[in-house]
Amino acid sequence: MIKKSVTPQRPIPLLRKGGHETAESARTEGAMGTACIRTFGCQMNVHDSDRMRRMILDAGYAEVHSYEDADVVILNTCYVRENAVDRVRGHLGELVRLKREGRVKKVALTGCIGAAEESQELREQYGIDLVLGTHNTYELAEFVGLPTMRETFTPELPGTKGASSAFITIMTGCNYQCSYCIVPSVRGRMVCRPLENVVAEVERLVASGTSYVTLLGQTVDAWRDPSGDGKKFCDLLEQVAEVAPRVWFTTSHPSNMEDRTLRAIGEKPSIVKRLHLPVQSGSDRMLKIMHRGYKAERYRRKIEVFRENVPGGTLSTDIIVGHPGETAQDHEETLKLVGECGFDSAYVFKFSPRRGTEAADMGDEVPPEVAQRRFMQVLRAVERGAFERNQRKIGNLEDIYIRHGRSEGGKAVGETWSGHAVHVATDSPPGNYTRARIESAGPHVLYAGEPLA
Ligand code: 5AD
Ligand code: SF4
Repeated sequence: MIKKSVTPQRPIPLLRKGGHETAESARTEGAMGTACIRTFGCQMNVHDSDRMRRMILDAGYAEVHSYEDADVVILNTCYVRENAVDRVRGHLGELVRLKREGRVKKVALTGCIGAAEESQELREQYGIDLVLGTHNTYELAEFVGLPTMRETFTPELPGTKGASSAFITIMTGCNYQCSYCIVPSVRGRMVCRPLENVVAEVERLVASGTSYVTLLGQTVDAWRDPSGDGKKFCDLLEQVAEVAPRVWFTTSHPSNMEDRTLRAIGEKPSIVKRLHLPVQSGSDRMLKIMHRGYKAERYRRKIEVFRENVPGGTLSTDIIVGHPGETAQDHEETLKLVGECGFDSAYVFKFSPRRGTEAADMGDEVPPEVAQRRFMQVLRAVERGAFERNQRKIGNLEDIYIRHGRSEGGKAVGETWSGHAVHVATDSPPGNYTRARIESAGPHVLYAGEPLA
């Protein structure tokens, strides 16, 4: 069930003064507001946090990075698995203490926990001042003393303008009803953003210096133009690929993934040659119980098309082990699929029951020690395959896009055109390219030698 926002009694009074690095400097120069945003969970949340950051800066707050320095703390949360909630509880406990000591003044809880029933309990237990769901983050404006904003899912405050890479939300919500998943109830049904609107934002970002855009959504490939003109995700991707120098998208659903999209990844030079396609299980029986809407064979066929059209591309997935009803045979089928698909990486999760989902009340639970064993087996199978595939990349000359500049004494972190993470010794700043040969490889990361250009 979706919970509505809890509006604060009155906004916190603030002086309009920004640009302070720490609470100390902010306080000595007379500004009253310092704020700290902590993000948990997926890229959608990272993006939502960027928008909230823009709001707090516009309101005159100085952003700080530790709770001790903050007047206002915003926890932007994830609800997808129970351990995500446990982590947030730990942070809330710490914040109660800091509030008692008079350091932190206000705490806001936003994101997916905020949209769930459980947030009421948390609000009472931890004395949270503001709870917002995922559809009304714009209400944070009022809380931080800005004029009330109109709700838009195409935010007028793209927090990432001018940065070398940016996220762009093309759809929100999800129309699937996977047995285990809380997302449809906390993020709502799918809402797609008009094509011209997305392209206009990409153009604006590129003009301001952004060289890498990631199209975001829970099921991006389910995108349809809301005008009803029949345009599908591939049309949008192709148009964005004409405008942006580098493009990626996540997350996709196998039932929506068209072959022409897989071909476009191979054909369009600006699209990163990397596909994240969650499979969840290799067993048809489990896929049916999970309501995934496809069989393992259909998934394998998609991967074949990807491999044919995107030679050298990387493939990643999500897998859940220990879903209620999962037998040893089902688990074997997942291991078999892992062996066949050759994933370059996978997010492997132990099933976590979420209140209100079908799977939470299914019974037929998998004992925790069995789930743990299966989890380790899948993880090892993925890593073994990934390590072998990475070893074959040694010697390749790669154009590496720098994502994070060099840290002191360390290396810069970049990615190849197949979206693979590489450590490279260069002083090039984020957004630039450098050319280097891959010299060694682990299961997760490649290591490049001296840059050639
Ligand atoms: N338990 C475990 N994993 C889950 N996921 C979603 N819900 C659950 C759950 N209840 C995983 C799925 C999804 C990813 C984002 O999180 O694999 O693709
Ligand atoms: Fe959750 Fe399934 Fe929707 Fe993905 S497709 S967000 S797993 S309901």
